[in-house]
Amino acid sequence: MRQLSLVVLISGSGSNLAAILDAIEAGKIPGATVKAVISNRPNAYGLERAKDKNIPAFCVDHTQFDSREAFDTTLLQQIEQHQPDVVILAGFMRILTPTFVQALNGKLLNVHPSLLPKYQGLNTHQRAIDSGDKEHGCSIHYVTEELDGGPVITQAIVDIDSTDTAETLAKKVQIQEHKLFPLCINWFVQNRLAMIKNQATFDGEPLGPQGQRLNVDELNKQLG
Ligand code: GAR
Repeated sequence: MRQLSLVVLISGSGSNLAAILDAIEAGKIPGATVKAVISNRPNAYGLERAKDKNIPAFCVDHTQFDSREAFDTTLLQQIEQHQPDVVILAGFMRILTPTFVQALNGKLLNVHPSLLPKYQGLNTHQRAIDSGDKEHGCSIHYVTEELDGGPVITQAIVDIDSTDTAETLAKKVQIQEHKLFPLCINWFVQNRLAMIKNQATFDGEPLGPQGQRLNVDELNKQLG
């Protein structure tokens, strides 16, 4: 079985990190190990979650650096010490430099709370409601130099109800994120995913622009 070393980058609560750690602990991603968790914010709760599981967890505080380049250089050095196969951005709220992204080309995954290419950037839930959308969700994508613009691997879709607010919608979407990220990492362990010439592939076949799209039932079925 393929062994997969992960480094997870966070900025906040770390609920996606917790979902990944729980899935590994439950044997749902055999072969995967989180080698380290790094936050750019010292008080990120996700650091505590990692320490509770005896995973090396530390902060590289972006406010202590004069430039984006200097921060990314140090962050990259810290990441590379763990020689990860995949680096997971689980709510890591930083714009990354091209040098950083290129160094981790094909190994860098992000979860974004929208059905990309819709709603890149912030306030995605409110923007989906304001546009009168009937569905919303999250995307897991390879990170490239274009912000929230890299090839999409998979999306989880939720319905927007007439009573939804940005808060209720965010909760609905996050529940799906917590299932989708472990599933996607498991595809990596199984060697099913690759990025070839800026195109995501699954089992060697190019994925469409929105990757594998799964509604709530389909996602639950995939998880068995
Ligand atoms: C997640 O919901 C993720 O979609 C979002 O940050 C949250 C982090 O939550 N990411 C972005 O907005 C990236 N552009 P968590 O710290 O509880 O996992």
